[in-house]
Amino acid sequence: MNVHRNPDLDPAEREEAFEYSLRPQRLVEYIGQDKIKARLEIALTAARQRSEVLDHVLLFGPPGLGKTTLAHVLANEMSAPCKVIQAPALEKKGDLAAILTNLDEGEFLFIDEIHRLPPAIEEMLYAAMEDRKLDILIGQGPSAQTLKVDLRPFTLVGATTRAGLLSKPLHDRFGMVHRLEYYTRADLAIIANRSARVLSVKMEQEGADAIARRSRGTPRIVNRLLRRCRDYAEVKGQGIITSDIADACLALHEVDDLGLDGLDRAYLESLCGKFKGGPVGVRTLAAALGEVEGDALEDLVEPYLMQIGFLDRTPQGRRATDAAYNYLGLNQDQGPLFR
Ligand SMILES: Nc1ncnc2c1ncn2[C@@H]1O[C@H](COP(=O)(O)OP(=O)(O)OP(=O)(O)O)[C@@H](O)[C@H]1O
Ligand SMILES: [Mg+2]
Repeated sequence: MNVHRNPDLDPAEREEAFEYSLRPQRLVEYIGQDKIKARLEIALTAARQRSEVLDHVLLFGPPGLGKTTLAHVLANEMSAPCKVIQAPALEKKGDLAAILTNLDEGEFLFIDEIHRLPPAIEEMLYAAMEDRKLDILIGQGPSAQTLKVDLRPFTLVGATTRAGLLSKPLHDRFGMVHRLEYYTRADLAIIANRSARVLSVKMEQEGADAIARRSRGTPRIVNRLLRRCRDYAEVKGQGIITSDIADACLALHEVDDLGLDGLDRAYLESLCGKFKGGPVGVRTLAAALGEVEGDALEDLVEPYLMQIGFLDRTPQGRRATDAAYNYLGLNQDQGPLFR
C-alpha cells in the first residue's frame, strides 16, 4: 500500500513516512548546497581512499533544510549504517556509553538537536570524539575507579538549528562544520519536480515554479505545499498541478507570494503594530502572540524574516525594517494600528 495514504498511520507517522520516502539517498540526488557538497565530496573520497572513517561533521541551519537527509546521505556514501538519536533522549551517561560501545567500525552516529545534550553527557563525548576513548566511572566515593574503554572508529554527525547554543569545546571537536543555506528558487523547483516524480504526481513547470516561489527557501515546505497542491489538483482540477491550481491552492491555505503564512504575518503585525517596530524581546513577542513558544519563533519564523530583510536582531531585541512596514502596507509614522 502507498505509505502516503495508509489509513493505519496517524498524521504524524504519515508525515514522517512521507518525508522519509522523499529523502535523497545519495549525494548526487541531494539538490543545491553546492559548496557543502563540493567539500564533502572531497572528504568522502579521501576517507574512502585511505580506508578511514569520515571526520566528525556538524550540520547547522534552520529546520527543513536537509540536515537529517544529509546525515543519512553521508552514511550511504560511506556504505555504513547510521544510528540516530535525539539529544534530549540521552538522560544518563550510561545511555551514551551503551550506544558508543555498540557502534561497529565505520558506523555513523547521528545526534539530532545536539545543542540540547545534557552537560555531563556532552563532556563524555569529548574524549570519544577526539581519542575514541570512553572514561567510565565504576563504583562510588573514594573506591571509585575510572575504566578506559577503547571505541571502534566511528563518525559523529551532529545537527542543530542553533549553532550559537553549542559549547566551544564540542564545536571544536568537529572536523567539518557546515552551515546549510536557504535554497534558491531554481533549486526548490528541481526539488518539487523530483518529489512529484517520486509521488507520481503530474505537474507543469509553472506549477513547480509557483510552489518554489512560496517555499521560503526550504525543501520541507516544498514537499508540504506539493502535497496540498496534489490534493487540490485531484479535487478541483484534472489531477495536474498547473500554475493556476498552485496559485488557487496556496491562496486557500493563506500562503502569500513571499511564502509567509498566518504566523509570520501575525508576528510582523505584532512587531510593527503593538510594539511599534521594536526593539522587543522574542519572549515578549511570543507572549503577545499567545500559544506560541519563543523557540518556535526563533527556529521557524525569524530566520526567514531576517533572510528576506524584514527583521533585524539587535542586542536590544527584534526590530522591524522598512521593508516589513511596506509589506504590511503600513507607514512607520502612523503609530500603532493594532492595539
Ligand atoms: N538537498 C535536498 N534535496 C532534495 N530534497 C531535500 C533536500 N534537503 C531536504 N530535502 C527534503 O526536505 C525534507 C526535510 O529535510 P530534513 O528532514 O533533512 O531537514 P532537517 O534540516 O533535518 O530539519 P529539522 O531541523 O526540522 O530536523 C526531507 O524529507 C527531504 O525530502
Ligand atoms: Mg532533522
